[in-house]
Amino acid sequence: MSQDKQLELDYNYRVVRQFTLVTILWGIVGMGVGVLIAAQLVWPALNFDIPYLTYSRLRPLHTNAVIFGFGTSALYATSYYVVQRTCQTRLFGGKLAEFTFWGWQAVILSAAISLPLGYTTSKEYAELEWPIDIAIAVVWVAYAVVFFGTMIKRKTSHIYVANWFFGAFILTVAVLHIVNSMAIPVSGMKSYSIYAGAIDAMIQWWYGHNAVGFLLTAGFLGMMYYFVPKQAGRPVYSYRLSIVHFWALVSLYIWAGPHHLHYTALPDWTQSLGMVMSIVLFAPSWGGMINGIMTLSGAWHKLRYDPILRFLIVSLSFYGMSTFEGPMMAIKTVNALSHYTDWTIGHVHSGALGWVAMVSIGAVYHLIPKLFGQERMYSLRLINIHFWLATVGVVLYIVAMWISGVMQGLMWRAVNTDGTLTYSFVESLEASYPFYFVRFVGGAIFLSGMLLLAYNAYKTISAPKASLKAIEQAA
Ligand code: HEM
Ligand code: HEM
Repeated sequence: MSQDKQLELDYNYRVVRQFTLVTILWGIVGMGVGVLIAAQLVWPALNFDIPYLTYSRLRPLHTNAVIFGFGTSALYATSYYVVQRTCQTRLFGGKLAEFTFWGWQAVILSAAISLPLGYTTSKEYAELEWPIDIAIAVVWVAYAVVFFGTMIKRKTSHIYVANWFFGAFILTVAVLHIVNSMAIPVSGMKSYSIYAGAIDAMIQWWYGHNAVGFLLTAGFLGMMYYFVPKQAGRPVYSYRLSIVHFWALVSLYIWAGPHHLHYTALPDWTQSLGMVMSIVLFAPSWGGMINGIMTLSGAWHKLRYDPILRFLIVSLSFYGMSTFEGPMMAIKTVNALSHYTDWTIGHVHSGALGWVAMVSIGAVYHLIPKLFGQERMYSLRLINIHFWLATVGVVLYIVAMWISGVMQGLMWRAVNTDGTLTYSFVESLEASYPFYFVRFVGGAIFLSGMLLLAYNAYKTISAPKASLKAIEQAA
């Protein structure tokens, strides 16, 4: 038996390959729609008066495609890879893992069809209607069975910390999704939430914030804890810190949701609790970031010639930045300025593009040669160009939104001596236009980098296979 075949028997790489490839695909689709809606905010005529292309329908399509298509596929791919490698056993469940792939693609496709058609629950990040929600729950439970089943049959004595983070993400997302999606169907594609009023808002933002905390953060921290040490060729800086990091993060995140509902009908003490927990959350967030970055101790020089490592480390810097900014925005008086403005959008994308997308891209570059029997990626130069496109793209995006956001907040609250408003809303909108243009340019630059990734991946996969020995040496 060839060594290649042996490796395929030891580990289920097929499903990892599938999820890795769709990560690139959904990344391009989701960010492509992001660039389109960014353009619509500059040139509204770009909806061509077609209802399916209106901003209100494409915006949730963007968020669903990037979070559930791109981000979640990256999490499926890396969690399936990491759990097998660190538990030294084949993925549990055989066909069930295959089912999670096809099931998840069906969910994303249903989102891509139903959202432009106008079907929505109108709950942010939980817009999909009830039949799709049930499908999500079924696929997610299968995911949990495959992941935890693999951990149970592991051949190692301990559980590597990356799996703790992946495990917490899988369990919590299941609970969040099921609780927040409870609804009474009134027709094939329409339902009403079983919660009402302020309780509905609270449940929604308990879900929304923890989707950020567990999907967009804990899952990607799992990714970071495996791929940063691997790519740097160093053990994680402090294993003890990683355990403290884990427990502190998961126990604090769950309380912070009310910071999305400052100055609303939510009881005031709940808002204050959310604010305090968000401020405390700064500590574990930075503990994790420092643990990741310090893993490079003694290997800093690698940053000079390894663009994959650069993707991973710069993503951690953005993680640090957004988790400093987040607690600050959670302070009520700061939120009074930032809420409803583009500042929030800047914060979102410093996390989403700077952290989530860049750590995923780093992991995908690390994985592709290993999964497709190659020594390395086709072109290191293209990865380097991609790195710079991504970095410049994110910086343009978030700086434009920060300036625009603070400006909007200040314009809205400015009053004349007689108490009347200094600026009308339209004046603030007009003042935002140049920044919307810069955001569009930044997004387009980021997207062009994704196209380079797709090309580089295609060339790597289609090249003649390297010998397994060469792959082992490159690993
Ligand atoms: C310590 C960590 C963090 C804290 C305390 C925090 C806090 C906040 C606050 C206060 C808001 C504004 C809420 C509002 O005015 O409506 C916000 C919005 C948001 N944050 Fe964070 N943030 C953190 C990290 C992150 C990270 C790492 C990401 C992404 C990966 C992220 C994604 C988002 C998103 C998507 C929203 C917008 C939600 C919406 O209104 O649709 N946050 N965050
Ligand atoms: C080329 C890259 C991207 C571009 C051009 C882009 C553009 C946009 C635009 C124009 C909006 C609407 C802003 C508004 O309504 O004022 C938006 C919202 C959002 N995007 Fe992106 N985006 C990109 C990538 C991503 C990625 C990779 C993620 C997640 C991993 C993401 C997550 C989000 C979220 C969560 C929101 C909603 C924010 C909120 O409601 O506060 N985006 N994006």
